[in-house]
Amino acid sequence: MFLWGTATAAYQIEGAVTEGGRGPSIWDTFSHEPGRTRDGHTGDVACDHYHRWEEDLGLMSGLGVNAYRFSIAWPRVQPDGSGAANPEGLGFYDRLVDGLLAAGVTPVSTLFHWDLPQALQDRGGWMNRDVAERFAGYAAIVAERLADRVPMWITLNEPFVHMAFGHGLGVHAPGQALLLDALPVAHHQLLGHGLAARALRAAGAGQVLISNNCTPVWPASDSEEDLTAAAAYDTLHNRLFNDPLLLGAYPDMSAYGIKSVDDVLDIRDGDLAAIATPLDGLGVNYYNPTRIAAPAPGGLPFTDAGITGYPATAFGWPVVPDGLRELLTGLRDRYGEALPPIYVTENGCSHEDELTPEGVDDQERIAYLREHVDALQRARGQGVDVRGYFVWSLLDNFEWAEGYHQRFGLVHVDFATQRRTPKASYHWYREFLAAQ
Ligand code: FCB
Repeated sequence: MFLWGTATAAYQIEGAVTEGGRGPSIWDTFSHEPGRTRDGHTGDVACDHYHRWEEDLGLMSGLGVNAYRFSIAWPRVQPDGSGAANPEGLGFYDRLVDGLLAAGVTPVSTLFHWDLPQALQDRGGWMNRDVAERFAGYAAIVAERLADRVPMWITLNEPFVHMAFGHGLGVHAPGQALLLDALPVAHHQLLGHGLAARALRAAGAGQVLISNNCTPVWPASDSEEDLTAAAAYDTLHNRLFNDPLLLGAYPDMSAYGIKSVDDVLDIRDGDLAAIATPLDGLGVNYYNPTRIAAPAPGGLPFTDAGITGYPATAFGWPVVPDGLRELLTGLRDRYGEALPPIYVTENGCSHEDELTPEGVDDQERIAYLREHVDALQRARGQGVDVRGYFVWSLLDNFEWAEGYHQRFGLVHVDFATQRRTPKASYHWYREFLAAQ
């Protein structure tokens, strides 16, 4: 069965950050620091999904998706990141999973969508190798409770973005601007993935995936400098995360003025074997390609040259549907037999949606989704084994540093009243799904 779904993440929708025994996460800390998010928005209330999940489940049933990707908040399950499970936290996800199954929707659970327990950040967070072990312990607790009913697990969401935005540039939690000194965060997350994958399997979990943010990289010109910079960026964004998972080895980065991985990463015996634990699928999150030019002196070994000549979303992200086909066929060409089935675990766009008495007429989003699904089908036609597609997102939600300013939902949320209004794109997706 091809999975057609929608995706969300705990901190972006749940709210109720001090309820049910939940501990603080790095996103609670970060969003409450002055100047970190647009207009100082926080996820304190978000979509209040913690209290309104049954209504949201009804929206999914009405939509007719056969799968729902949601994330489990580590600080709900282990408020300080270690030790015994918090029964109220586990109970929330237990009820959600049962509700999904009763509605005929396959639960797809992500274990880490960036909301690290603050107590672990206080001990160094993902810069500290021990957090990988902690993550596996948390995975074991959750799997013991839910693996009998959740058939598909995603360990980490976008370890590249968490490393680059959270630890390299400091625009996401935990707000560290370490540039390339953030590289250990890649290895520790990947190690955490591998150890968690083993813990999931030991607890009888079905399929184990990871969701990587992947981007086709376009050199700004044919000059040698631009080509080298593009290869450097491709290595850092794509290969640093896919190669060890699929090939059991890190890419060589020394050619790009990035220190060799052996110099910057604490890679111990057995780490790469754990990281390369066979996957049942690769989750791929696609938003746009990236155009890369030669570096400006003194900074990173590349420059983001921007993409013009395409429509743009409210975020300013270029809309390049064929980039999805290019990405999927590119992964197949790069990894061949080593590539497991692919699930597109996120794809979608933000727009300045206007709520009128007639609803939200988000024609751009409909065009975006239709064209991306077409591109996905072209990739399948070219022999790529794609088995799922999840729209980001079910609901307008807390879009990280942008707060509530970027609306990605199929369902409009009025954040003052929490009223949900399905947009035209919701109705389009419903009809599309009914025809599958
Ligand atoms: C991805 C994130 C997701 C959402 C979308 C727009 O990078 O995984 O939480 O913010 O971008």
